Amino acid sequence: MNNPTNIVAEAMKAREFAQAPYSKFKVGAALLTDAGAVVHGANVESASYGLSCCAERVAIFNALTSGYHSFQKMAIASEGGAAPCGACRQIITEYAANAELILVDVNQPESPSHTNIRTLLPDPFIGKNLPSN
Ligand code: THU
Repeated sequence: MNNPTNIVAEAMKAREFAQAPYSKFKVGAALLTDAGAVVHGANVESASYGLSCCAERVAIFNALTSGYHSFQKMAIASEGGAAPCGACRQIITEYAANAELILVDVNQPESPSHTNIRTLLPDPFIGKNLPSN
């Protein structure tokens, strides 16, 4: 039997590539696509702080621009198991709404918490709110 993908371990691997020289807060994200592929992302910071991008958005943009559009799960690994920021919640709503979200504390990876974007962002602004759509 094939081993199921360990998406928690994948997020921790992704985190190793975080570029966080300013905050020192490294975050890794791993998406499991409906097709079973795994796509990684990690946060990338800039000396012009506002240009920095979170791990979740890097992972989603990486997946979308690699041709993946539907996702089963996203694991997010950080010290303390932080939930996604508001900007990432918006992008998750628009591009990974059905993904189970798994929040991983890198010091306790064996007991992640599970949530979803409807819980984290219950009344989102979406494309259908725009008159032209
Ligand atoms: N960060 C993420 O990568 N994901 C989040 O959900 C919250 C914050 C990053 C952004 C920045 O590089 C660092 O963590 C500190 O805010």
